[in-house]
Amino acid sequence: MSFDRPVNRIAVIGTGVIGASWATYFLARGFDVVATDPAPGAEEKLREFVAGNWDTVTRIGLEPGASVDRLSFTPVMGDAVAGADFVQENAPERPEFKINLFAEIDEAAPVDALIASSSSGITMSVIQSACVHPERTVIGHPVNPPHLMPLVEVVGGGKTGPEAVDAALAFYASIGKRPILLMKELPGHAVNRLQSALYREVVDLIDQGVLSVADADDAVSWGPGLRWGVMGQSMLWHLGGGEGGIQHFMDHLMGPLVDSWPSLRTPVVTNELKQTIVDGVLEEAGGRSIDELEQLRDEMLLGLLAIRARADSTEAIPS
Ligand SMILES: NC(=O)c1ccc[n+]([C@@H]2O[C@H](COP(=O)([O-])OP(=O)(O)OC[C@H]3O[C@@H](n4cnc5c(N)ncnc54)[C@H](O)[C@@H]3O)[C@@H](O)[C@H]2O)c1
Repeated sequence: MSFDRPVNRIAVIGTGVIGASWATYFLARGFDVVATDPAPGAEEKLREFVAGNWDTVTRIGLEPGASVDRLSFTPVMGDAVAGADFVQENAPERPEFKINLFAEIDEAAPVDALIASSSSGITMSVIQSACVHPERTVIGHPVNPPHLMPLVEVVGGGKTGPEAVDAALAFYASIGKRPILLMKELPGHAVNRLQSALYREVVDLIDQGVLSVADADDAVSWGPGLRWGVMGQSMLWHLGGGEGGIQHFMDHLMGPLVDSWPSLRTPVVTNELKQTIVDGVLEEAGGRSIDELEQLRDEMLLGLLAIRARADSTEAIPS
């Protein structure tokens, strides 16, 4: 089955942290968006989020005709997906819940509309297990906040058609996202496994008393994290290998790196350790609210995205 249905109208299922951000992005890209969420006050919260972040997406650039007025809301999920060309699901991260919700979405959505789940870690084989038309269901996992972060992980389940995976990749690319294909599905997909591997070590270094919470954050964000905003780790090792590049790195530096792996530990996360992290983060935040910190994050992300867009378009590192 092919999935070349033109996308004009997108249904956003669940309008919490991720759904509200996706809705803002889809509106900015010039789509009609119909959102649904059963929580009391969900529509008001969504409209407030979209209005509050419209300036941010405007700075990235709006498609002609993009407007907050093209957002509609219904508490009835079936009404939201009935006329949708593409569905982005963002409901709570519980396997049984997603299985039932996907069965309902599948029943109500046009049979050639792609249905993507933002799930952070549940595989599509699980989520699609009660669908009648599972061939059009995919994981389209964004990084928070999706109205700013370009990456989307795409992977199908055992019953997903390869055409659906291709169509999802093409769709996300066409709206300015940076989709990557996972050639196999696994719990946590890829991005959260990477974050998990790093955070396990952050927590262990705090647990061992090697670093304070603030210094562990600095060790990431003022060190390799700055480079990771520009290039991935394997490409960075290519530069780390000097004139010999990645081959030199593999010949001379990969060995010591691999030798260090057995010393990496899985810390026991006690309540005391959790409290140490909570206290450390609040001290680091220094009284700044979540809103203030989000604004700071978004402002810096916008700057970095602008520099990356410039570098991509000229294929040169800006001076
Ligand atoms: N928060 C993150 O950093 C992040 C990042 C990437 C992906 N995700 C994924 O996105 C999804 C949503 O996570 P979130 O952080 O936005 O959660 P959230 O709790 O902020 O939002 C979930 C929303 O779903 C709504 N909901 C409950 N039942 C529903 C139903 N039957 N139909 C429609 N909506 C319903 C809730 O009212 C709530 O507004 C999860 O699968 C999560 O794994 C989260």
